[in-house]
This record gives sequence, C-alpha cells and structure tokens, in this order.
Amino acid sequence: MNALRTIAEEDGAVVVILDQTRLPKETAFVRLHTLADAAHAIRVMQVRGAPLIGATAAYGVALGLSEGQPLETILSTLAATRPTAVNLHWALDRMQRVLEKSALAGRPETAWEEARAIAREDAAANAAIGKYGLEMLHPLAAKGCLNLMTHCNAGWLATVAHGTAISPMYAAHAAGLALHVWVSETRPRNQGLLTAWELAEAGVPHTLIADNAAGLLMMQGKVDCIIVGADRIAANGDTANKVGTYLKALAAQAHKVPFYVAAPLSTVDCACPDGSQIPIEERAADELGAGNVPVANPAFDVTPANLITGIITEHGIVAPGELANVKP
Ligand code: MRU
Repeated sequence: MNALRTIAEEDGAVVVILDQTRLPKETAFVRLHTLADAAHAIRVMQVRGAPLIGATAAYGVALGLSEGQPLETILSTLAATRPTAVNLHWALDRMQRVLEKSALAGRPETAWEEARAIAREDAAANAAIGKYGLEMLHPLAAKGCLNLMTHCNAGWLATVAHGTAISPMYAAHAAGLALHVWVSETRPRNQGLLTAWELAEAGVPHTLIADNAAGLLMMQGKVDCIIVGADRIAANGDTANKVGTYLKALAAQAHKVPFYVAAPLSTVDCACPDGSQIPIEERAADELGAGNVPVANPAFDVTPANLITGIITEHGIVAPGELANVKP
C-alpha cells in the first residue's frame, strides 16, 4: 500500500506541501507560514482533492492562530477558498468545536494537535478503504487481469496518504492481483495526469485516456469495475465528484459495470439531504484555454445514488441508501 504523504510539519511552526500545480513535470515543495499562505494553496490548487483540502484547512487554522489572527477571521477566510469539497467545512467545524473549549492562551497548540490528528486519521481511514476495496476486488480478479477505471485524481496526492479511489488499487497491486487501470484525463485541469504519475511511480500498469473514451471502452467490455473519489456525498448517497463522473456512471449502468465511490466519512454531508443541494464550483473560464468565447466551467457534477453500486468507506462498503447507518 502506498504510504507517501502530501503534507507535513517543519519545526512545529511551518507546513510543507507538495505543489500539485507543478506535477507531474516537477516535484516541488511549498512552505506555508501564514493563514494567507494556506488559503492561497487551497484556492490555486497547490493542494487539491477533498481530504487533503480538509487537512490543509486544519493546518491553516493552526497557522492563523499562531499569527494571532482572530478565530472567526481564520474560519471565514478558509471556508471561502473552495465550495464543493465538504471535507473543508468538516475540518473547520471540528477545529472550531475543539478550540472553543480551549483557553485562549492554549489555542495555537491545541490547533496544531487537532490538525495533526485530522491528518493522522485521514491516512488511517484511507488505508482502511484500501483494505475493504481489496475485498471487493478479489472475486472480480478471479477471471484474470482486472481492468479498472478511475476519473480525476483520488490517489495519495488528493489525501494525506494512500488515496481514496486509488487506495484499493494500491492494495490490490501489493496483494499480487494482476490489474490495469484506465485513467481518465479529466479536462480541463488534467488531474488524470497526476493519477498516471502516481501509478507509474508505484509500478501499477495503467493507460491514460481522454475523458470521452470511457463509454467506448465499457461498450467493448474492457472495464471490469470503476472506482472514483468524492468531494461531497449527500445523506441519500448522491455524490459530487470531478465533472465527468456522472457520464461514466451512466455508461457503467448501461454496460453493467460496477460503479463504486470511495471516500472517508469526512466526505459525507448528513446536513445535505440530496445532490441538488450540493454547491458546484464554477471555475475561471481561462482554464479551458478557449480564448475569447463564452465558457461555462463547472468543476464537479453529481452522480445520483441509484447509479452507485456501493460506497467504500473506512467502516466497510455500504449501499448509498444506508449511509445513515454508518454516519448517523
Ligand atoms: O478539483 P480537485 O482536483 O480538487 O478535485 C478532486 C476530485 O474531484 C477528486 O476526485 C476528489 O476530491 C476525490 S478525493 C480523493
């Protein structure tokens, strides 16, 4: 299982992140010294992927308190960085709850400790997702080389460690299962290239495809199972993930390909009854590189629960309609 990490502390006062805007061409690290640095890193996607955004926000609170900034300013600054990944708000709510119980003088240290706990728990949750996902993949692998598909990057880069959708793939590879991964390119920001980079580093056989090639591959019987990540899962199981996920789920249903979502419970938003209530991030037009034409650039879409075979969580695989049993 892959144990690489995306975020670390230096001298208990600085946060070091891997700059994902420079990958896969260059491996570069950025030091975050302030609340503004942390908010900037999330906004410009130096860190990205729902669980990592949550962990970075938690460390951002610690940085802001260490600078002497008021807690309300810190929380509102970080909450405004990106709208869809609920892990951001989950982490901020958790930090707020813990800090409000702490004496003012001890708050910076409490914040560092809680951020550390959030990061540690994310890594552990994703390792468990790998274990449960592997149990699901084992019988599918009985016929020979397993052809999996994923969309966007839900590997270790998108989390503190291990990844969500890719964690079962790393576990399967480590267990000696023969597998190959179709990696969807993910227009317009090409997060699929990050997945391809990760899989290459880990020695997992894979092939990059343009987003729209997925339907053809399913029609040709070249996909045994799809696993994607999630940015927010509503109480009824409707799931927001990188734009293009919904089309894959529709094609998967048409071709009877199992379609799994892998996510820690920090991605489940019980306050959100269904997918229609999930805020969808609209990103800048220039990301499409289309010049001076009208552009719409929604970064996420919502896959209805009825298209999802199961949700792989750190507590096991649950049917979308049964989420309330694991996260009441
Ligand atoms: O816009 P991004 O790159 O932050 O979006 C990331 C995704 O959509 C991931 O697939 C998702 O966060 C799953 S996380 C492990």
